[in-house]
Amino acid sequence: MEKQKRYLIKTYGCQMNVHESEKLSGILEQMGYTLADTETDADLILFNTCAIRESAEQKIYSHIGELKKYKKQRKDMIIAVCGCMSQQQKAAENIMTKYPFVDIVFGTHNIAKLKELIEKRQQSKKRVLSIVETEDIKERDGMPKVRTSGYNAWVNITYGCNNFCTYCIVPYVRGREVSRPLSDIVGEVEGLLKEGYKKITLLGQNVNSYGNDLNDEDQTFAKLLKAIDNLPYDFWLSFMTSHPKDISFEVLDTIASSKHIMHYLHLPVQSGSDNVLKAMNRRYTASDYLKKIDYAKNKISDIEFSSDIIVGFPGETEEDFNDTLKLISKVKYSQLFTFIYSKRRGTVAEKMENQIELKIKKERLARLIEKQNEIATLEAQKYIGKTLEVLVEGKLKNKNKLIATSKCGKNVQLEGSDELLGKFIKVRVESSKLTVLFAKEEK
Ligand code: 5AD
Ligand code: SF4
Repeated sequence: MEKQKRYLIKTYGCQMNVHESEKLSGILEQMGYTLADTETDADLILFNTCAIRESAEQKIYSHIGELKKYKKQRKDMIIAVCGCMSQQQKAAENIMTKYPFVDIVFGTHNIAKLKELIEKRQQSKKRVLSIVETEDIKERDGMPKVRTSGYNAWVNITYGCNNFCTYCIVPYVRGREVSRPLSDIVGEVEGLLKEGYKKITLLGQNVNSYGNDLNDEDQTFAKLLKAIDNLPYDFWLSFMTSHPKDISFEVLDTIASSKHIMHYLHLPVQSGSDNVLKAMNRRYTASDYLKKIDYAKNKISDIEFSSDIIVGFPGETEEDFNDTLKLISKVKYSQLFTFIYSKRRGTVAEKMENQIELKIKKERLARLIEKQNEIATLEAQKYIGKTLEVLVEGKLKNKNKLIATSKCGKNVQLEGSDELLGKFIKVRVESSKLTVLFAKEEK
């Protein structure tokens, strides 16, 4: 009998990539591969890469380099690289020339072709480079999936982005925005709820512009949310990422009146300075942003927000940075994802003069994190003594504790038996540390 083939996928970057790796696993398992435990027993290792910042790319190159030794021992092992980094022509060529032990390089638009690419490599004995610019989204939607995130299921609603924020590589490596038909999405979500998933997270680079390319007033983001909210199951609905210029008051009203939508919104602001926002091509001002935040807070009293912030964008002055500190103090985010600006090849900001020194960027990042830690600690303390509805999602490694998420997106830890896994329960918060709440089940 032929030995069963084993695979490993190493995923870098965002949730979009995590979900795409679930689809790539789907193809590999359909081909008869099973998951390997380590590199040494893998017949195929696939890197699903990220290009958002230079640090991500450097890390990936060094991880690919480490595989040389496995390939020396096992000549028949297949090493493949796909995703946002390899979609860039220069990076793909670089991998082909500097890493001769990599067998297959492909991009973001042909992941549905993984089987054909592997077969091509096996049959021709030549290395395969396949970067394309367009794709059949039906083919990508139809890929089998091996879901890996417990009670949560990711569901794509759009692919690509039309915004061209001046710092961002995404529109170049993921192409223009394409929306899936509303009925396909609702059908997929209903199937997942029937299977027992408890949380659905809709994915798109800018979920709020869902449907803009469909030219059909019945297929908008608010209508999609309503259609899913009407499904008769016990579940929570979440989505990411929202663009502040596109999230409408109608969507905020929909969250407020819905049964299932989480009271948690990831709304990346990037900067609190109007000068910087303009240079970033974000197309909103700090005051436009705050209006939407205030509207949401008024309509949904327990709503929590998180955000992404870039420090050290070209031309950012001390005053601009202080505007960011002021904005985060006003919004009081429960969580912040903070980044040092990184030059990306081919973007508008790459060519901007007055790039900021790394020392200043690092110093601003440290101040931002310090301020946010103060805010998050105080915000979490407000929950002590309160009752929250949570979904128990997993167990803490090496400890007899359960991890749960509240409807407003807070991370909660509690003691309890495994029977609570996958259940919606009420808990009482007893203490907190930074953003984490420690609670007991309320019976
Ligand atoms: N440098 C630093 N951070 C970036 N992001 C996107 N592009 C860059 C870049 N060139 C950040 C943004 C975005 C998040 C996913 O990554 O904050 O919202
Ligand atoms: Fe990048 Fe802006 Fe598109 Fe987000 S909206 S993916 S930051 S270009």
